[in-house]
Amino acid sequence: MNMENKKQVMLSGIQPTGIFTLGNYIGAIKNWEKVQQEYKCLYFIANLHSLTVKNDPKIIKQLTLDSVALLLACGIDIKKSIVFIQSHVPRHAELSWVLACHTQFGELSRMTQFKDKSSKNADNINAGLFCYPVLMAADILLYQANYVPIGADQKQHLEITRDIANRFNKLYGDIFEIPNPYIQKKGARIMSLQDPTSKMSKSDNNPNCYISILDTKDVIIKKFKRAVTDSDTNIIYSDDKPGISNLMTIYSVISGKSIKETEQEFAGKGYGYFKTAIGELVACHLKPIQDKYEKLLEDKKYLQEVCLNGAEQASKIASKTLNKVYKSLGILTKNF
Ligand code: TYM
Repeated sequence: MNMENKKQVMLSGIQPTGIFTLGNYIGAIKNWEKVQQEYKCLYFIANLHSLTVKNDPKIIKQLTLDSVALLLACGIDIKKSIVFIQSHVPRHAELSWVLACHTQFGELSRMTQFKDKSSKNADNINAGLFCYPVLMAADILLYQANYVPIGADQKQHLEITRDIANRFNKLYGDIFEIPNPYIQKKGARIMSLQDPTSKMSKSDNNPNCYISILDTKDVIIKKFKRAVTDSDTNIIYSDDKPGISNLMTIYSVISGKSIKETEQEFAGKGYGYFKTAIGELVACHLKPIQDKYEKLLEDKKYLQEVCLNGAEQASKIASKTLNKVYKSLGILTKNF
């Protein structure tokens, strides 16, 4: 048997609702890059999910291909991983309907992200927003994923995916692999630079809240300098110092040093000194990614090829699962 077949499956997605932030990078993409050798990986741009809130269609269209380039620039390698756009594999929407018929209204009502997003978009609490986790479950279960590398904010969506899969398997036999969350201990929840009690988000209206991975060095340093920190000046990691602790987490993940080593490095140095150091470090880390991204954007044809090849490979796996699902439910496929 080919060794490739024995690899466990790792799958994750990202919405094209903005240029990725340092939160996306640290909480998810950096880890996607690391596991490519060991696992069979699939990574996709979740453009159908982005319909759940109002977005400018022109911007979503642009950001979808830009996001593919960003993933490649961050080290996702198409020789090792399958990269595709969600809407290019219609099986996602098909399985989503099947799973919606096996998901209870009550369990979707309890999703904290639904509550959050519906309070922020009170004029557009649409059924898609409510069913968001079902489409996400379809994304994951179609590929029989063993692990899903995500930030902490997506953990509840993974839990409901497991509930739906277990329920389905109990009713119809062994159809779905039960996926496990793959969440890093450090950096799973990078916080806003302006409000360290809420998560850094690419859709925040205030750009000072996040570092975009395409921000220039000057902008990065300025944003860190403006970051809200706590009332004293000690560079110490502590639950009651969420501002400086957030920055220390970023510094620690990017530098590869532990929190203890970070504390020692900056003992007695003060916030100003530390903020310049973290700005320099992050800018220097992002520079090769930015250069690679600019190069990739010059060749749109190549990017389109990457997407089409990825969709073709993904479709084969997805169709196999969906056929199994339809068969188990008595839904006739054309080859009956
Ligand atoms: P999205 O686009 O909001 O974020 C992509 C990934 O980045 C992580 N993340 C963070 N991690 C740490 N700190 C932060 N501040 C931060 N902000 C975002 C997210 O946890 C995520 O892993 N619903 C998903 C997209 C999706 C998906 C899927 C993911 C659709 N289908 C199937 C996994 C499997 C989302 O909106 O991610």
